[in-house]
Amino acid sequence: MDSPGPAPARPAVKATEESVLAIRHWTPTLLSFRCTRPAAFRFTPGHYTRLGLGAGDARVWRPYSLTSAPGDDFLEFIAVRVPGGAFSERLRELTIGGALGVDKAAYGFLTVNQLAPGKDLWMLSSGTGLGPFMSILRDPTVWRNFERLILVHSVRHAAELAWRDEIEALPPRAWQAEAKAQLRYLPIVTREPGATILSDRIPLLLADGRLEAAAGTPISLADSRLMVCGNPELARSLRDYLGTRGYTTNRRGVPGQMAFEKYW
Ligand SMILES: Cc1cc2nc3c(=O)[nH]c(=O)nc-3n(C[C@H](O)[C@H](O)[C@H](O)COP(=O)(O)OP(=O)(O)OC[C@H]3O[C@@H](n4cnc5c(N)ncnc54)[C@H](O)[C@@H]3O)c2cc1C
Ligand SMILES: NC(=O)c1ccc[n+]([C@@H]2O[C@H](COP(=O)([O-])OP(=O)(O)OC[C@H]3O[C@@H](n4cnc5c(N)ncnc54)[C@H](OP(=O)(O)O)[C@@H]3O)[C@@H](O)[C@H]2O)c1
Repeated sequence: MDSPGPAPARPAVKATEESVLAIRHWTPTLLSFRCTRPAAFRFTPGHYTRLGLGAGDARVWRPYSLTSAPGDDFLEFIAVRVPGGAFSERLRELTIGGALGVDKAAYGFLTVNQLAPGKDLWMLSSGTGLGPFMSILRDPTVWRNFERLILVHSVRHAAELAWRDEIEALPPRAWQAEAKAQLRYLPIVTREPGATILSDRIPLLLADGRLEAAAGTPISLADSRLMVCGNPELARSLRDYLGTRGYTTNRRGVPGQMAFEKYW
């Protein structure tokens, strides 16, 4: 009988091989890209999947949030190149027509159905944490189900305000008749004084009331639902702060008022 080989380091990813359709460089270290979508690939806005780059045993897999809408016939992602990162340094090799491994499944809990019904949906993001909120905003559902959508995007430099023009033009004309919600977009540039009206970090702006003032609406347990995505320290401090105000995450299937996704 053969002796069993060493256990695999991690479960094999069941994936399809997709092809890159488009690449957009926002800065030398920030890019978004589209690839072909397998016919059977299903996801909910806010989900992530796993992407694979490199050939054979050298292939590296990492989780990436979908930025495209469930109705799009392509998949889209945004990524920052982290110096020395095993996966993200390989993004340099991404070319139109090149191969990209895509996990067959989508995952995660940063979806609107994790939240109790509410009137206002606050989407608080840093850096590439904008991604899942693009998917949510590119789908008509939230526009029908909320009264106010507040998108906060904190970046170091103005050039990292990805999709700024598209966000400012939302909702698309085709949905305007049925879209109940108003969008308030609050970009925050923290390292370029004067680039945006708000320039402090999100937790400070929330604690001293400036974020609510800029949004033109207060945050309340009864009406507000909050989603946070990106930097883990940002997520931790907002979770602690909102926890003291009585907000909870989904617990054992009981929807709460807040949801988080940490990227590292
Ligand atoms: C659920 C989930 C969804 C994710 N979605 C995205 C996404 O949509 N876009 C994306 O760029 N990354 C995303 N990430 C992070 C991504 O999976 C990788 O960590 C990232 O690409 C770096 O991989 P790496 O191998 O190059 O370096 P790693 O060894 O994985 O990371 C090295 C370090 O880089 C920093 N870092 C990693 N990711 C980021 C980031 N996104 N922004 C700022 N600093 C970072 C951290 O300090 C981390 O410790 C997600 C992570 C999770 C858990
Ligand atoms: N952005 C760049 O110019 C750049 C260039 C090359 C490489 N990189 C690499 O890319 C990675 C990610 O950079 P990134 O700029 O996308 O992500 P980031 O460092 O998480 O910064 C994104 C935004 O989040 C804010 N932020 C950071 N920590 C926070 C906290 N604890 N609480 C609240 N807000 C917080 C930042 O404000 P502050 O400005 O106050 O920190 C910034 O506005 C890093 O590993 C970096 O080495 C970045």
